[in-house]
Amino acid sequence: RRAVRTGRVRATATATDNVARFVTGETGNNVTPYIANLVGRGLHKRANHPLGIIKQKIEEYFETIEGVNFEIADAMDPVVSAQQCFNDLLIPDDHPGRLPSDTYYISRAGGRDVSSAEDILLRTHTSAHQSTLMKAGYEAFLCTGDVYRRDEIDASHFPAFHQMEGVRLFDPALVGEGEMTREEWLASPGCKLVADDLKATLEGLCDHLFGPVEKRWIDEYFPFTEPSFELEIYYNGDWMEVLGCGVIHSGVLENCGLSHRKGWAFGLGLERLAMVLFEIPDIRLFWTDDERFHKQFKAGQLTKFKPYSKYPP
Ligand code: DAH
Repeated sequence: RRAVRTGRVRATATATDNVARFVTGETGNNVTPYIANLVGRGLHKRANHPLGIIKQKIEEYFETIEGVNFEIADAMDPVVSAQQCFNDLLIPDDHPGRLPSDTYYISRAGGRDVSSAEDILLRTHTSAHQSTLMKAGYEAFLCTGDVYRRDEIDASHFPAFHQMEGVRLFDPALVGEGEMTREEWLASPGCKLVADDLKATLEGLCDHLFGPVEKRWIDEYFPFTEPSFELEIYYNGDWMEVLGCGVIHSGVLENCGLSHRKGWAFGLGLERLAMVLFEIPDIRLFWTDDERFHKQFKAGQLTKFKPYSKYPP
């Protein structure tokens, strides 16, 4: 694996603790010390970091939505079970995202080839917290965190990045309270209401971030939403994917003990948005300690990144 020129990992006590916690030598453990040292940096919680600035700007938009209070969940542990990351979301056993070639496992109870619910891993998406938070009684939330996927490193790929998950459940009186079959629900006015609210909310988010932009909805497939969509915007002369979303699958809600509830969910990648909005050309820059990077960004301000020499100051 190539070294990351623009990122530097500090040799601190924390680094040692991280290696001890994530590089365990247990069956199936495939976390490297390099990856272990990325966990818990909390870039999205730094007010003057581009990821923190974008997060703040998105949360600010959701605060303006009347009648809903979106709880902020930005300190969930990135270590989750396969149950949370996959099973709760109806992701099938043979989904490639579960392979140890794609996912960093702390331990794999099921052994080499079989994925089992008790496997412990670094979350591959913030959707891993949807069911946990809904079961805990959260009706609307924004859950942000670092996520991990095994990947080659280049200017636009890094094995750690950040996502924000949004969920909103609706008042049963608004979207239908009675027992419905899956088909009845999908054809009902309640389902249309949820999907329309989802689309209007996310179109508003795009305008808040990018100014009024041209948008298009693409039909998508995710195992945990039905129907599912992807939102693209026309920006700098090209269509760009902004997020995935949909009406929460009845099966996901049933597994949470919430078969009487309905709602929507979305997930977006913070780096993609930040790279475009701040004109940051390389995803590795988000992890740098170089003050020539950090002194350029201030909370609340979307400014354009000015490149500097690749040599140390
Ligand atoms: N978890 C998906 C991913 O990482 C993104 C996503 C899609 C999240 C649809 C959602 C959703 O909540 O409804 O690619």
